[in-house]
Amino acid sequence: MSTPGDGIPVQDTAFVSEQKRRAAEGGLNLKPSSRMPAPGSPEPRRAVGAAPAARIEDAVFSCRDVSVLYADKPGLSNVSIDIARQQVLAVIGPSGCGKSTFLRCLNRMNDTIAGARVTGSILLEGRDILGKEQDVAQLRAQVGMVFQKPNPFPKSIFENVAYGPRIHGLARGSADLDDIVCASLRRAGLWNEVKDRLSRPGTSLSGGQQQRLCIARTIAVQPEVILMDEPCSALDPVATARIEDLIDELRASYTIVIVTHSMQQAARVSQRTAYFHLGELIEVGETNRVFTNPRQKLTEDYISGRFG
Ligand SMILES: Nc1ncnc2c1ncn2[C@@H]1O[C@H](COP(=O)(O)OP(=O)(O)OP(=O)(O)O)[C@@H](O)[C@H]1O
Ligand SMILES: [Mg+2]
Repeated sequence: MSTPGDGIPVQDTAFVSEQKRRAAEGGLNLKPSSRMPAPGSPEPRRAVGAAPAARIEDAVFSCRDVSVLYADKPGLSNVSIDIARQQVLAVIGPSGCGKSTFLRCLNRMNDTIAGARVTGSILLEGRDILGKEQDVAQLRAQVGMVFQKPNPFPKSIFENVAYGPRIHGLARGSADLDDIVCASLRRAGLWNEVKDRLSRPGTSLSGGQQQRLCIARTIAVQPEVILMDEPCSALDPVATARIEDLIDELRASYTIVIVTHSMQQAARVSQRTAYFHLGELIEVGETNRVFTNPRQKLTEDYISGRFG
């Protein structure tokens, strides 16, 4: 496989015209939104043969040759990628291409799957997280995860958010814990909707509210990175828009990796996009560039709807 990063320019003006035509028809709207990076600020071109990861200065995560085997079956093959600080990376690709497997590598969630074996190197802030000495509970607080289906604990709204800070010893007393819960719910954009019913069960909330509760729960343990695996796929368009706005706000403080099947969503919320196919990272780059000028035929076929 050729380099997925910025090394090999594959120009296809016909494809760009097709994107513009589709956008004009109200189809795939890939025009940069107000949230997207300004056009005219392309990523620097790298020489052919440069690192396949499209290396990033001061990356939060540096993954090199990461592979996952489920028993003997490959789930991910030799993925090398850097993840930039305080940006949103969208991970896209057809079903079964390894998006969730990749996400689970970043907080060792694949450890929970019997028979899964992860090889390669994953550095978080320069520290190897695959080693035996890594405290996995501490890693999962630092690299939180929000799942496809909102999964509040069978506890009150307050306890859902207080649970993590309590077990990680982050609160100095009950007043401090109250402050952490309140601040987390505010940051997740949920405070005004729940402040009068904190003792009600988390499951009494709507789906969109439950997903924001799960985001508040993740934020409460002061993560550095938030992983989101199709966080809006069970939500209606209004709830989805709220989560997307929230993602945009949160990236000022956190690095976010979001798996999505919606290319419109990837275009709206992310600054960089990675395209996976059959367990391999095919291409990664600035979102606007990946969608308007993909360098790999496989990426082009996927985003133009020819397969997937
Ligand atoms: N727990 C598991 N046990 C065995 N194989 C698995 C497991 N999880 C994933 N796989 C396999 O690994 C490959 C990648 O799966 P993964 O779930 O990461 O894909 P995905 O891109 O997230 O797909 P989707 O878009 O459907 O969620 C697939 O071939 C899948 O069958
Ligand atoms: Mg998945």
